[in-house]
Amino acid sequence: MSHPLVSVPPMPAPSKARSTYRCQSCGDASPKWSGRCAACGEWNSIVEEVDVTGPLSAMAIAPAHPARPIGEIEADDAVPRPTGVGELDRVLGGGLVPGSVTLLGGEPGIGKSTLLLQVLAGIAVDRPVLYVTAEESAQQVRVRAERLGAVRRRLFLASEVSLPHLVGQIDEVQPAVVVVDSIQTVSDPALSSAPGSVAQVRHCAHRLVNLAKERDIAVVLVGHVTKEGALAGPRVLEHIVDTVISFEGERDHPLRMLRAVKHRFGSTQELGLLAMGEGGLLTVDDPSELFLTDRRPGSPGSVVVPTLEGRRPLLVEIQALVVSSSLPQPRRQAHGVDPGRVSMMLAVLDRRVGLQVGGLDTYLMAVGGARVTEPAADLGLAVAVASSLTGVALGPHTVVCGEVGLGGELRTVGQIERRLGEAERLGFRHAVVPESTPDIGTGMRIIRVSTLHDAVGTLGLRVH
Ligand code: TYD
Ligand code: MG
Repeated sequence: MSHPLVSVPPMPAPSKARSTYRCQSCGDASPKWSGRCAACGEWNSIVEEVDVTGPLSAMAIAPAHPARPIGEIEADDAVPRPTGVGELDRVLGGGLVPGSVTLLGGEPGIGKSTLLLQVLAGIAVDRPVLYVTAEESAQQVRVRAERLGAVRRRLFLASEVSLPHLVGQIDEVQPAVVVVDSIQTVSDPALSSAPGSVAQVRHCAHRLVNLAKERDIAVVLVGHVTKEGALAGPRVLEHIVDTVISFEGERDHPLRMLRAVKHRFGSTQELGLLAMGEGGLLTVDDPSELFLTDRRPGSPGSVVVPTLEGRRPLLVEIQALVVSSSLPQPRRQAHGVDPGRVSMMLAVLDRRVGLQVGGLDTYLMAVGGARVTEPAADLGLAVAVASSLTGVALGPHTVVCGEVGLGGELRTVGQIERRLGEAERLGFRHAVVPESTPDIGTGMRIIRVSTLHDAVGTLGLRVH
């Protein structure tokens, strides 16, 4: 028998968000905020908590932009516009995209300001651009621009460190591209944190990202990176910006490398190569030739490796020097090569090839400011060490290429045809490669080996 009063269940009450103020110290709840908890006496311990009651559906708000089938969404018309510096365009996949933000990171003095001045001078031929210098004076930048032949009518220059003023400058000039040099020296006085602090850098970058999107301006932020890789500023910006380009090189070498660390509009595979000279940064026409210019063929410890940077083949000389050590802990130094892979190769040489390298000082480097970190250079590293240890040089026209496993086995590497094509172009005639390398059309003599042990034997690097 049903009772008339309880036969119809009550409707669920509509969702109502209600705030409770709870002490983080003792857990006491009260309906009002206060500076001090009435229960335990703690100061500033009370925080707001929202209690949501009722079904979840009741809290839904009709979306302004309802979800649509993915095929109906317009594709982003991210059309890059060339900067005029071909090597930068190569890394950016064509150029700078309007409305995007690019972070150019690199060590102080590597040439970031120089590069961007050259970029802006190129774009200023047909569009207004703005260079905001927050580090150097406008006069200093002007002098550099003279030297680079970068003085243009549409290249505007402002010395500005305050974000609101910087935005004012953008309003005035209405540029297509803005360079902020550097993001670490710009600050917003509305924020109490010190200029250069993570809070300031992040805040300013956020505002500039919004501005770039709103006005369809391509913004380039310069970020200083220290040698130790403590990217105090730039690292915290990587997820905010669309593209992160790292500008690298050895200060004592003219060679400079551009790499995309992150790129929302394309590949991060490309390498850009530039050389710093009297007239600024110039394209390197034949990088492989540049890396091998000062090579002395026939010297023990020197090995040429056909590396690949993105799709770009590069011949790099790797040098090793092993000498008896007077230290209890022998010294191992690696420059331009991966120290982790060097240690692995030394262990494999010791265990799988029987070359006693453990107690020796070992130095390894990629010559000419090059940086070789791919596993395809393993064989080069190991053979360079074996060659130095035995005092036996490789043939002057030989290259070696292959990944080495911990068992001493050689593993095939990608795009061998492209690599050996470059070696052949530069006059190399013999290539030592892993057994499993696919057949390729080349005029070079291909020597296939299955282990590091065999490679060392084939090259005549045995201790007799
Ligand atoms: P710069 O662009 O100021 O570096 P960053 O902005 O990354 O700190 O470049 C500084 C170095 O480049 C400086 O040591 C001088 C050298 N340089 C040249 O060799 N040639 C040139 O034409 C210019 C402008 C600079
Ligand atoms: Mg600079």
